[in-house]
Parts: sequence; C-alpha cells; structure tokens
Amino acid sequence: MPSNNPLLKPETEEHIHHLLSKMTVDEKIGQTNQYMARGFFDADLIRKGLAGSLINASGALTGQGTSRSSSADVCNDIQKLAFESRLKIPQLFGRDVIHGYRTVFPIPLAQAASWNPDLARQAASIAAREATSDGIKWTFAPMVDIARDPRWGRVAEGAGEDTYLGCQMAAAVVQGFQGECMSNPENLVACAKHYVGYGVAEGGRDYDGGELSEPTLRDVYLPPFHAAVDAGVGTLMSAFLDLNGVPATANRRLLTDVLRGEWGFKGFVVSDWESVHELINHGVAADDGEAAALAFHAGVDMDMISQAYLNHMAANLDSGKVSMDELDEAVLRILRIKHLAGLFENPFTDLNRSNRDILMPSSREFARHFARECMVLLKNQDDILPLTDAFKNILVAGPLVHAQGEMLGTWAPDGRPADVTPLSEALKAAAPAGVQLRFAAHVDRAIEAAHASDLIVLVMGEHPRRSGENANVTDLGLPPGQAEWVDAICAIGKPVVLVVLAGRPLAITRQVQQAHAVLYAWHPGIEGGGALGDVLFGKASPGGRLPITFPRATGQVPIYYNHKNTGRPITADGDFKTRYVDCPSAPLFPFGYGLTYTYFAYANLSSRGEMNNGSIQFSAEITNCGPRPGAEVVQFYTRDVTASLARPIRELKGFQRITLQPGETRKVTFSLHREDLAFTISDGRKVCEPGIFHVWIAPNSSSGLQGQFIL
Ligand code: GLC
Repeated sequence: MPSNNPLLKPETEEHIHHLLSKMTVDEKIGQTNQYMARGFFDADLIRKGLAGSLINASGALTGQGTSRSSSADVCNDIQKLAFESRLKIPQLFGRDVIHGYRTVFPIPLAQAASWNPDLARQAASIAAREATSDGIKWTFAPMVDIARDPRWGRVAEGAGEDTYLGCQMAAAVVQGFQGECMSNPENLVACAKHYVGYGVAEGGRDYDGGELSEPTLRDVYLPPFHAAVDAGVGTLMSAFLDLNGVPATANRRLLTDVLRGEWGFKGFVVSDWESVHELINHGVAADDGEAAALAFHAGVDMDMISQAYLNHMAANLDSGKVSMDELDEAVLRILRIKHLAGLFENPFTDLNRSNRDILMPSSREFARHFARECMVLLKNQDDILPLTDAFKNILVAGPLVHAQGEMLGTWAPDGRPADVTPLSEALKAAAPAGVQLRFAAHVDRAIEAAHASDLIVLVMGEHPRRSGENANVTDLGLPPGQAEWVDAICAIGKPVVLVVLAGRPLAITRQVQQAHAVLYAWHPGIEGGGALGDVLFGKASPGGRLPITFPRATGQVPIYYNHKNTGRPITADGDFKTRYVDCPSAPLFPFGYGLTYTYFAYANLSSRGEMNNGSIQFSAEITNCGPRPGAEVVQFYTRDVTASLARPIRELKGFQRITLQPGETRKVTFSLHREDLAFTISDGRKVCEPGIFHVWIAPNSSSGLQGQFIL
C-alpha cells in the first residue's frame, strides 16, 4: 500500500478489514450512529453494538454555558457495555473541547490574534491531556470556518477572515490535539468543522444559507480544511447551512468528489447535530429515510443524534438507495479512526490521571502567557500604557469589572467559573505596590469614584452568551447601555483606558476617539484577569495583531482586507468611487493591525532570485526603535495586478513573529514560490498567470514597504 497518507497504516487496514468481514448489517449500521445519553440511556443499544459513538453533551447548545463534564469512570462503565457486545467494538467518546477543557484558553479568534500557531498547538495539547483523562477521545474541533461577518456569533470560534492564517492555525491545532500519534492515551482525535462555507450565512444569521462562487469557495473557504486534512485530521463535521442551495450535509461533490477524490481523506465525516434529519427542513428530503439516504450517499459517515441512519439504513439498503459497498466503506472509515486512536488496544481510561493532568499549575501559567499574546493594543495615546506609578489611584469600572465565568468565553462547557480568579481580584494582585485600585460595577458609583481617581480603566464588552453558536447580533456597537457609561466617565476629563472583553470585533468607533488607550482582550480564558494585569502594568507587552477587520459601523459588513479593487476603488480621485455618504469606507482597524509598547521601523525592501528558477526571496530590515524589547508580526502580502479574474488588492502569503531588543535591527526574509500565486478561475481550474505582482513586507494589511516583480 504505497501511501504517505497519515491515516493509512498496514496493521490498521488489516485489522479493520478482518473485523468488517465478521460484522452483521445491524452491527455495521450501529457504527454509523452517534448516540447521546439525553434524558434516558438505553444500555442495550450499546450492548448490541448499535451506537458507534457517544457524544458527551447536555444538548444542542452545549457551547452556551457549562454542562456536566465527562468522567473516566462513567466512560469506562459505558465501554464495559460495549465490551459485552458480540464483536466488542470500542465506543468513541466525543465532546466539544474547543479552546481548552478545564484549563480554558483564549477563544479561538483570540488565539488567531497571537499569530503564533505554536502556542495554539501547545494549548490544544494541554486540552487533549485534560479531556482524555476524563475519558474523552474525540473533540469536535478545530472550527476552521473563514468568517467575514462579525454579526455571526460563531466568528468567535474560528481564526478570522484570512485563509493563510486560518490554514496555519488549523494545522497547528490538529497537531496539538492529535500529537504525533492519536493512539497515545493523552491525545484526542480532532474534527475540522464545519465543512464548508458555514461562515457565509446571510445576515450573519447562524444556520442561514449562503452563496459562494467556485473561485471563492476554492481559494478562501476550502483551504483551511485541506490544511487540516494534510495535517492528518481524523474526522470532519458537515455544516448546517445550504451553500448555493445544496445543504452541506447532502453535498456529494464536496464531501466525496473533493474531500476524498481530490484530497484523499481517509478519515470519517460526522454530521452536525441532527443535520441529517434537518435535510427535511431544507426541503431536499421528504422524510428521515430520504434524508438518511441523501446524507449517507453524499459522504456523511456518521449521524450525530438524529438516529436517521439507525432507523432507516436497513430499509435504504433493501431498496437500493444505499449500497452495501457504501456502508462497508463508511464503517471502515470509522473503524480506521477508532483503531488509529488506539481504542482497540486501550479502550479504558486510567482513573488516576485526571487528578494529575487537570488544571496543572504549568497549564495555568501557559494560559496566562497565551492570553497576553492574544491581546491587541489598538490605541495608546501619549504612551499612557503600560501604567506607571504616575497613576496611584486607579478606578476600574464597568459591568464586567468582576468578570469571572465571563472570562472563559463561548464553548467552554468544561470550564468552571470557580476556577477563574475574578477580574477585579486578579488586577488587584497584579498592581504594583503603592498603586491603589478601586472598583465600581455600577455607573453612578463609577462617576462618583472617578472624580477622586487619577485614571480610570473601563472594562466593557460582551457576555459570552452574546457570542458563539446562534448568538448573532444586528448591531456591532457595545452592548446596550455601555456607550453611555463611556460617555459619562470620559466627560469627567480624567485619562481613560478602555479594555474590551468580546467574542467578535465590535464597532467601537466613538469609544476609540474618547479613550486614551484601547486594549482588546477578547474572552481571554481562565487566566485572563492576571494576563490583563500583566499587560496593563507592564509586566508583559500585548502580543496580538487583528485576525479580522474591525468595522467602523455595522453597515459596512461584510468588510475584509483581501477584497477586489473594483472599477472605482476607494483610492480613486474624485467622487465616483465605492463609498458611503455617512461613513468613511476604510475600516476602523485593518486586518493585521496591532500596537506594542515599543515601535518598529521597516526599511530596505530587497529581492533575490528568479521565480522561473523556483522562488524569489523578499527581505526587509526591521528595527526596534523604541524603549522596550518588543515582538513584531512581520507580514508578507502579494497582489496579482492583472489577471483573467479580478484579484484581491492584497493576500497574506507569510508572516514571522520576531522579538527585538531596543535598537536591534533584523533582516526578515520571505520566499515566494510560483504555486503561492495560483488561483482558481471560474471553471474551477487552478492557474498561475504571468504578469506584474506587487509585494509588501508590512506591519498590517494597509501599510508597509511595497515592491514588485514580473512573473
Ligand atoms: C453544535 C455545533 C457543533 C458542535 C455540535 C456538538 O450544534 O454546531 O459545532 O460540535 O453541535 O455539540
């Protein structure tokens, strides 16, 4: 079997084909059924081998809030039921371990803001060790959906708007969860979701349909899934939406022709929650029998919760709507992942692990470091941050000033608020000696206390229930009442530092003008309070850069950096150009933007090599010309100036994080290969066309040193 496919191992293939040959039709169907102990638990279903996997979830919206965690003894007891079945095929226990298990890390959108895939990999690895110690072996993550509409609540769960950054994060998180070998008891099987195009939901309304051209589907939305498959991801999950009128759970072209035919994916696909049954609502199936046949034939191997496969597969086989070969192929994919996950050799969990592996001090310490690296400094007038002892009496005010569970963000079902130090206590602990902090969670108290303070830190933003699945908004401004807070406090005339806790970009245009400094902390996780204190008081610098464009107003959405130039670009002279009469066209902050506690200069863009001989190297010199050591995310963009399709005005093709001491200069080099310039044309073919290309080595997507080359 000549293959470098990470999911094809000879000993696995031998085992699963031998096992399949012994299975009855019912046992095969059982493997395609994911079951949940919702309300009642039918142990017989397990004993008869009629449930291939169990999802540990309290319901369809497990992500909103916490839900009872799994436990190794419960999983072991259920596994014993599986071992009472005729063939003793082990259970695969699934759970949404999205950005941490008990040690909750910053939300995935914040993690992308670190522009540090290795930190995301480390976080996923810690999450895997904790979740597997409680009996979980499969996580429904990473979510790799590109998102260009922050009204959509699930923008919190992905890596933002850019394909290149999204691919880097997708691969890193898969590697973190699965490790070198899925069969290691401390590693999880990962699941790239939601295949594909979920983020184009019209109006930012979760579950709504959307349209994508073939070039945009191929070049923007599919690549992060391809990156996950190339990283060896064990499973994918089909999306809820209908894309171009075809429900993702019934899209054979994407689930079979592309995923398996073009990419060679050998794992299995699970539907999203009841999305097989929901094909009836989509209007493409008359009943569960038809829905089951449609989804299964499209390439969805396992049915999450709807039981349409369990109840109708046999009839679909009898009627010929589904063939035994198709069923065998799906069962082999599921058995393949179970075998690669080590479940046949190691189906039970060591009961002593969770006390050792969960909430280790080193995990908390890493969570604090990661949270600092995700925070984005958006404004720092007069270098007021980091706070010095010039400000001895500081008021910390706002509705989130005592945030505890809120720090965890959406999709933290195993996070426990009691594990989180409340923000006010964490800030007090981080404040230097001689600095007095007072706190006010109500605006009247805050106004009164502000008069006696040297500086006010306002903590505004979103509760996690306003973020994540099915938490969409029509207004990207601060939540109701908070703009008034900021008006009242800023009217007093003392220096104001605005800290925003959120699961999406917010249109804080007015507040950015009012405050002296703005620090975007996202939902920073279990150690977010301490991390915020470290950054505010200068024990560390904020490391983040925006992974998504920040709009000035909701009406600008969708707005993203890699847009087409149009025939009347905003850079054109005169009035005939794409614009609004009531708002500047430019975003509030561009993709890639972020400040630090020092300053960087870019100089001497140069190039070496010839594309025709393989690749061209572009270099620039970056200098730290400020007072402190600092980290810079040097970004590399290209533009295909003239092509057979209108092309984006910029596309990210590389980035490097570098740390420079004050005064230090470093040459940063990016290599560009011909295949990096390929794009999909209307008929679906990938091409690379000769012509002029612009390049930038830049601090963000709207500035930098510009050069060009001719291909
Ligand atoms: C939810 C989500 C999906 C999650 C699944 C199981 O509806 O769409 O991301 O993994 O159901 O909780």
